Amino acid sequence: MNKTVSGFSKLSKEEKINWIANTYFSAPQEAIALIKKYWNADPKIQQLHDDFIENTISNFYIPLGVAPNFLINGKYSTIPMAIEESSVVAAAAKAAKYWATRGGFKATVINTEKIGQVHFIYKGEIEKLDLFFLQVKNKFYEDTASLTKNMQKRGGGILDIALIDKTNSLPNYFQLHATFDTKDSMGANFINSCLEQFAKTLKEEALKYALFSETEKDIQIVMSILSNYVPNCIVRAEVSCPVAALSEKNIPNSQEFASRFIQAVQIAEVEPFRAVTHNKGIMNGIDAVVLATGNDFRAVEAGVHAYAARNGKYSSLSHAKIENDIFTFWLEVPLALGTVGGLTSLHPLVKLALEMLENPSAEELMQFVAVAGLAQNFAALRSLTTTGIQEGHMKMHLNNILNQFEINETETHLIKKHFKTHPISHSAVVDFIANLKK
Ligand code: MEV
Repeated sequence: MNKTVSGFSKLSKEEKINWIANTYFSAPQEAIALIKKYWNADPKIQQLHDDFIENTISNFYIPLGVAPNFLINGKYSTIPMAIEESSVVAAAAKAAKYWATRGGFKATVINTEKIGQVHFIYKGEIEKLDLFFLQVKNKFYEDTASLTKNMQKRGGGILDIALIDKTNSLPNYFQLHATFDTKDSMGANFINSCLEQFAKTLKEEALKYALFSETEKDIQIVMSILSNYVPNCIVRAEVSCPVAALSEKNIPNSQEFASRFIQAVQIAEVEPFRAVTHNKGIMNGIDAVVLATGNDFRAVEAGVHAYAARNGKYSSLSHAKIENDIFTFWLEVPLALGTVGGLTSLHPLVKLALEMLENPSAEELMQFVAVAGLAQNFAALRSLTTTGIQEGHMKMHLNNILNQFEINETETHLIKKHFKTHPISHSAVVDFIANLKK
């Protein structure tokens, strides 16, 4: 059977669904019914979601959960999280509650600089290019004035444009390396528009520059694009308390807990295999809030991991210490986020999530996100260094296992009661259900 199609994007939604169903499914009507079951009942909302991307056939659900009781810089918040992994929201809520009675989280934005680059090829004398750049630098600002006008009104704009010689890495390769302040927007569109104008100006001005030879005039623009690596857009989140105050039910000996916890962090600092999983736990919290607030989690992921490897070796994003009997645990992450523009005013649930956070500025959102990452990391390390991760994880996962079976309410109650005191595994649950059904 022919499984290719031409002009697919031009087909109607119904036609697309029919083609998919008839091409790939043994029971096309069932597939169509399932696809449509996930449509929103309100056609206007469905249309909105259809328009986000091309070739939309349905909606793909991810739960939106909330983690309450986050005390951050002296103020309580409830953090919205969009995530499918069973234990993440529960762990965040647990960490929030734990730290709320120990002074809460402190979060600070260290800087907010975004970066974009025009990558180009210039074949000629570097001194002449330097001179040319100095002479035309103002023109880059002038030619982007219509783009930067509104951003400047909001207090942002282009911070600087530098010419970078990269010929040591690649023959004839240079960059315009520009820095931006995009205030409450993530700024991707603004930055890319500025960069494309810079590229145009660069090419046009070079053609007019009298000191350049014909070859030197012929600057080749390779591409103009923002960088998702933002090492100067950093937020820090921290918790600290006297070591003795770390105690609670699962932590009878706070000194021992603190040193084991710090060892776990140190292992992630020196051992990349562990660091990746350690940071993945941080990203469980970060991505969930980034997604719920309509931000680009792929951009955040790429930038955060590059930052984790900034010293030449992939390492932990978080750190911990004891000084003068005070336990401190903190992380610093690069986060380019926005609370205006993009999906933030389009997706109804994103608007809801932002309102739940009391309509934060981008800097405030950076703080929420970093705190969610630190809380997640704390919860993971706390379990790993005490009970092990599986106990809590499987408790949360039990519902997922039960959802795979046809069981009534009484059976569910009996199963949950039994597994409160017995270790949960897929096969143990299957055996228990089989016995019940007998
Ligand atoms: C699971 O999603 C995340 C953890 O593996 C993180 C960690 O090991 O620190 C529990």
